[in-house]
Amino acid sequence: MNNYLLWNSSESSILLNLQNKEKLEINTHKGKIKIENYQDLKYGNILISSTGKRFYVIPPTHKDKHSKITRKTNTFTIKDLSIILAYTSITKESLILEIGTGSAAGTIFFSNFVKKIISIDTNFYNLQNSYKNINKLNLFDNIQIILANQDNLIFKESIFDAIIIDLPEPEKYSKFCNYVLKSGGDLVFAVPNIEQVKNAREKFSKENFVYFRTVEIWLREWLMRPSYCRPHHEMQAHSMFLTFCKKINHKNI
Ligand SMILES: C[S@@+](CC[C@H](N)C(=O)[O-])C[C@H]1O[C@@H](n2cnc3c(N)ncnc32)[C@H](O)[C@@H]1O
Repeated sequence: MNNYLLWNSSESSILLNLQNKEKLEINTHKGKIKIENYQDLKYGNILISSTGKRFYVIPPTHKDKHSKITRKTNTFTIKDLSIILAYTSITKESLILEIGTGSAAGTIFFSNFVKKIISIDTNFYNLQNSYKNINKLNLFDNIQIILANQDNLIFKESIFDAIIIDLPEPEKYSKFCNYVLKSGGDLVFAVPNIEQVKNAREKFSKENFVYFRTVEIWLREWLMRPSYCRPHHEMQAHSMFLTFCKKINHKNI
């Protein structure tokens, strides 16, 4: 995959996704960057803009890709996405179901870590935007997006290793998740208010779900200057509560 970040500073970086070995002229507010030869785009190289500014050619991080997607819905933040990997047993062998594609911020992130992700949404326009975001990053190898809800989907019993739900009433999917999730599989739901957490936890615990954990992540970057260092004034505080649980066989025997 030909993804490049041309990085000058935290305020000035360009994400390139090249399908072909094309010549490029990129306008930035720090001058024009001309790429005459595809070899110039080797990771680690330095490109000089028309105003003499240095742009480093490096692979984009997950956060860089996340910051460049077009948002038509609320999306998972990178801090929330990261903890989902740590609090579940998701691996590169996992088949994941995502409920609520939204703008595909989660879909794109998880596709880097799993075998396959199937993502469903009931809103055609959101899926259309998601399609563009996924296509922009050239990521369709292990992503499938479907316009559907639980009433018009037919999946075999116990096929998913994990299910991630990002919509206001995740409990509406509790029976469906119980059916399509493997025993031992992870269920994750994300909601902003604690009342929603309590409600959904109660409903899921009536199905075969155990080992509930609810977390909230805050992330604070620091400003590091030669003469002073302090926390950045913009802190990522509350976005949503993430709740994790595991499916077992026949909880109520
Ligand atoms: C907050 S957005 C998801 C954002 C996504 N996690 C992201 O990071 O880009 C919620 C999405 O759920 C979809 N949705 C709402 N109700 C749904 C349902 N019953 N089944 C499937 N999707 C639904 C909405 O259309 C919306 O796109």
